[in-house]
Amino acid sequence: MTWEDSRVEMTKEERHVLADLFQAASGFVLREDLKFVAERRLAPRLELLGLRDFSAYARYLRFDPRGPDELDLAIDLLIPHETYFFREPTQLGCFTDELLPDLEVRGARRRSLQIWSAGCATGEEPYTLAMLLTTRPALAGWTLDVLGTDLSHQALTQARKAEYGSTSLRATSDAQRARFFDDLPAGRYRVKSQVRDLVRFGQLNLLDAGNAALLPRFDLIFCRNVLMYFDAPTRKRVVEGFYDRLYDGGVLLLGHSENLLTLSTRFELVQLEADLVYRRPR
Ligand SMILES: C[S@@+](CC[C@H](N)C(=O)[O-])C[C@H]1O[C@@H](n2cnc3c(N)ncnc32)[C@H](O)[C@@H]1O
Repeated sequence: MTWEDSRVEMTKEERHVLADLFQAASGFVLREDLKFVAERRLAPRLELLGLRDFSAYARYLRFDPRGPDELDLAIDLLIPHETYFFREPTQLGCFTDELLPDLEVRGARRRSLQIWSAGCATGEEPYTLAMLLTTRPALAGWTLDVLGTDLSHQALTQARKAEYGSTSLRATSDAQRARFFDDLPAGRYRVKSQVRDLVRFGQLNLLDAGNAALLPRFDLIFCRNVLMYFDAPTRKRVVEGFYDRLYDGGVLLLGHSENLLTLSTRFELVQLEADLVYRRPR
């Protein structure tokens, strides 16, 4: 029997109980349409733990001393960590051609730039931003910091390793590959050390406002393809946290299918040539 065959059905009540647990821990909403995916991905956990059904799994998550670790693991199995280098090129063009030139002028005295990739998964996004920073001659000699954070310890372990296969480089041109990666055996690539040196990683749950408040201020925050997993009140709470972490005039960039239009926030919406961004007023 394969794990696909061993799917245990999740009742409506079980989905509600599990959804509450997942949402409280991570913001992730286990919608009805994700029920089958959840059944398939969590079935091997039930089997391994010797649990008969999802009610027993929910009890384990709630009351067993190993419940919190299992909850992290379950969430990791359910939330997509899909990402790749040079994702959303139009937005990255806006970053290099519009936002960075502005910051180079405004930050000329401070000569430092702090960027946060919030929900960075396996690291392709913060490394991409660091790669683009190295293409700006005006930033030579500046202190450049790119922070990548994620909920998932497993994703961050991969990010720190900085080794990737061709799927992660599917939107990377040959020229970019030659410039920013070292070749490894078996068609794998490692991000070059001058790019790696600009990037740090840390585990952070975006729902944990206390820990987020310990972060420094940023010039730019990228939070792409993360808010879409949260409900509106959670999205608003997380976005208000971003506002507090930005310098005046700092900018928040979201994924192309995400916006703050239905949330009332303190950000001003700014139409740049290539993209819409959210700015903390100057
Ligand atoms: C689809 S990936 C996005 C990766 C990258 N930002 C991009 O757009 O290519 C979503 C990431 O958000 C992370 N995430 C989800 N909920 C989170 C939370 N509450 N705190 C921190 N990270 C979270 C997940 O672990 C996952 O790695």
